Amino acid sequence: MKSTATAPASIAFIKYWGKKDEKLRLPETSSISINLDKCLTHTTVEFSPNYKQDTFEILGNQTTEEEKERVYKHLNRIRALKRSSFYAKVVSQNTFPKGSGIASSGSGFAALTVAASSSLGLKLSEKELSILARLGSGSACRSVPGGFVQWKEGNTSNESYAYSMYPPGYWEIVDILAIVSDKVKKTSSTIGHALATKTSIFHKPRVEEVRKLISHIKTAIRNKDLTLAGEILEKDCIYMHSVMMTSKPALFYWSGKTMDVIHKVHALRANKIPAFFTIDAGPNVHIITEAKYTSQVVSELKKIPGIKDIIINKTCRGAYLTNKHLF
Ligand code: PMV
Repeated sequence: MKSTATAPASIAFIKYWGKKDEKLRLPETSSISINLDKCLTHTTVEFSPNYKQDTFEILGNQTTEEEKERVYKHLNRIRALKRSSFYAKVVSQNTFPKGSGIASSGSGFAALTVAASSSLGLKLSEKELSILARLGSGSACRSVPGGFVQWKEGNTSNESYAYSMYPPGYWEIVDILAIVSDKVKKTSSTIGHALATKTSIFHKPRVEEVRKLISHIKTAIRNKDLTLAGEILEKDCIYMHSVMMTSKPALFYWSGKTMDVIHKVHALRANKIPAFFTIDAGPNVHIITEAKYTSQVVSELKKIPGIKDIIINKTCRGAYLTNKHLF
């Protein structure tokens, strides 16, 4: 059967960086994120006795052998659950640039997990889908539930999954994504996670700090307190990038343009507009603010030379099945 799923990328307020179990992708800490309604991956999967091998294609993009292998490994996990020997055809499409620090592997593996398990007729709960997605790409587990999401770190595979703390409409915040580069990042996050735990002197202190920040940001989200949430999410972004920059080899994901956007965010705040930045494993900057400030933030961003695109995201539902098949 052919199945198609759509899944959103997420932006973390408290980041996932470093694993306590590489193979099971168990994170060192819990993380907190929102799903992004304009950064989606659509994936169609068909398992069939007619296919002689697995195939994977991303429409409009090149796929590397490494990416293909990672997808086929994930298909093996899902096939094993059904004891199926059928090969699959997988076709994906992203609504945003791949590999530029917007978690395309997160939305990608969430969509793949939901579409592939449906194609094989597996009936999995949201928790089971989140666990399965995590094995493909850690942050993918957060793209399965909707809205404001917590990934509980857990100590075993069955304990490490994401759930929705609040539905998408709970708090009218937006993520204004300033794209300063759409080039694929040089060091993948899989390599970065391992470097963090093994080489950065700031990794351990950050892990200890994150345990406190998690409970503070949950309070801020519950109370819809943007000033508090913003302060915490910026702090953890800087902590995570300090870990990256002090890894060996050092990972510098920011560019000069990234700094230009950060300075603009500071200027906005000086003008009483509550806007806060966070950045994943790439140079692009996510600005978190309340929906009512969107036009002011966007018009200020447009004044920065070299911004390639601005994507305005609201929080949205998690991964879901649709009948808009890609083949
Ligand atoms: O799921 P991965 O291995 O691509 O890791 C993503 C990590 C960050 O995007 C940098 C942070 C996060 O929590 O999303």
